[in-house]
Amino acid sequence: MTQRTLVLLKPDAVRRALVGEIVSRIERKADWRITALELRTLDRATLETHYAEHVGRPFYEPLVEFMLSGPVVAMVVEGERVVEGVRTLTGPTDPIAAAPGSIRGDYGTIVRENLIHASDSEESAERELKIFFPGSF
Ligand code: RTP
Ligand code: MG
Repeated sequence: MTQRTLVLLKPDAVRRALVGEIVSRIERKADWRITALELRTLDRATLETHYAEHVGRPFYEPLVEFMLSGPVVAMVVEGERVVEGVRTLTGPTDPIAAAPGSIRGDYGTIVRENLIHASDSEESAERELKIFFPGSF
């Protein structure tokens, strides 16, 4: 089942020069393709739309500030079961709980600064791709 998903390498991943490392892990999965990739500084309006489900939660404002703290790498990845697959590569939200071998498990310690965003369902992916790559979808 071919799908597409939105991946964001968060500002901590860019600052720590982990972009190549993380992109490689995605590229190495058989038959997945990166069909868009851009280094981008986000604005507040984009993040408010993207993270609308989290408005009002205690972590929301610090999360938005963090995501504004430097450029991110925004990517579209397409391929077999890629929505679930990138979430598996990423690991759970808390990097300390994430298994070694996952991106968050290998590189993260802080829940907020967990290196990568990946759409959590096909519906989320379609919504998020429209925000980050309008016109393409
Ligand atoms: P993401 O959306 O970034 O792929 O991560 P996720 O699904 O694993 O986590 P989600 O619940 O959607 O939360 C979005 C991002 O908010 C930050 N967060 N901080 N308790 C906290 O301090 C807290 N909880 C969540 C993380 O950066 C998380 O990835
Ligand atoms: Mg999420």
